[in-house]
Amino acid sequence: PQPGPVTAPVMGWNSWNRFGCNIDENLIKATADAMVSTGLKASGYTYVNIDDCWMASTRDGQGRLRPDPVRFPGGIAAIADYVHARGLKLGIYSSAGTATCQGLPASLDHETVDAQTWASWGVDLLKYDNCNNQGRPAAQRYKAMGDALKATGRHIVYSICNWGNDAPWEFAPNVGGSLWRTTGDINDSWGSVTSLLDQQAGLETFARKGYYNDPDMLEVGNGGLTQDENVAHFSLWSLLSSPLLLGNDLRSVSATTLGVLRNADVIAVNQDWGGSQGRRVADNGDTEVWAKPMSDGSVATVLFNRGGSATTVSTSTAALGLGGSSSYTTKNLWTGATATTSGTLSASVPAHGVVMFRVTRAGTLAAPPAAGTLQVSDL
Ligand code: GLA
Repeated sequence: PQPGPVTAPVMGWNSWNRFGCNIDENLIKATADAMVSTGLKASGYTYVNIDDCWMASTRDGQGRLRPDPVRFPGGIAAIADYVHARGLKLGIYSSAGTATCQGLPASLDHETVDAQTWASWGVDLLKYDNCNNQGRPAAQRYKAMGDALKATGRHIVYSICNWGNDAPWEFAPNVGGSLWRTTGDINDSWGSVTSLLDQQAGLETFARKGYYNDPDMLEVGNGGLTQDENVAHFSLWSLLSSPLLLGNDLRSVSATTLGVLRNADVIAVNQDWGGSQGRRVADNGDTEVWAKPMSDGSVATVLFNRGGSATTVSTSTAALGLGGSSSYTTKNLWTGATATTSGTLSASVPAHGVVMFRVTRAGTLAAPPAAGTLQVSDL
């Protein structure tokens, strides 16, 4: 198979948020094991992605990237085998520049040899960063790697990481990219989560089945967010059709954090085949309402409270785009509680928190529209 669109937002793990450069082959293997033993694999998390700092400080005599001999003495191919044996996939990292963001060798003008090296190792995804890019045009730099990946003949998902510069939502799909970062880096704080969220509003028109905005990797479980904030972060990123790339230490993940990351109803909102990204339908300052049309005709909604004390947030089925009935069922995706309403939705939402519902017209539903035909503009 050739590199091409994925069918849903990528789910997996990446080393950067929790570990930075403090990575080695034991961590990656233990993370793959944990992804299975915690049930995260069964929940859909598949990719184990090594971020910056995997490579040695020089290329080999034939101009190839090679793994850091201390961190990865067994080589990357052995890790790929280990990950594949567990039914998982392996991601790797480089930059469309002369060096990575941490100053290690990167792939600008080495696209062909590097893509071939990764393919020979059995790599399944490339995150391609933007540091040290020499001021050369982004679309050209990212196309060169997209072409090189395609020429390997291996299906390698192409994750474009140029921080929202140069409108990646316009060029990324044309150079083989399946996802593209829309912003600078996340950090483990509520201020970062809300700031990144604010930068997503309006980008929903560029996401579609197989092509996804990437508001950056998750910080759930890293300690800087309260439980309500973790739930809000995960709910909103799911509604945004974001890649769900875990950023925490899976070897010591708590049951509480797993309860967030493995919520099947919320994951189903993220992975919905329609690929329509959620959008903000109401902005009342500290409270907001976000909605995502689902392929079965229902709508997922997040009632969001940015403020520092609990408050009631309300919306209506009409505001969510769900007309045409006098009766609707709601499911609270965090408590599982179901209810019916004639049109009003209202909930007490904790500080820095959300209440998330899936709302369905009662009675007989029309057949779902064909794949790709449901647009945000239908709302
Ligand atoms: C950039 C990226 C991050 C991470 C680091 C690694 O900052 O945006 O996601 O990959 O580089 O150095």
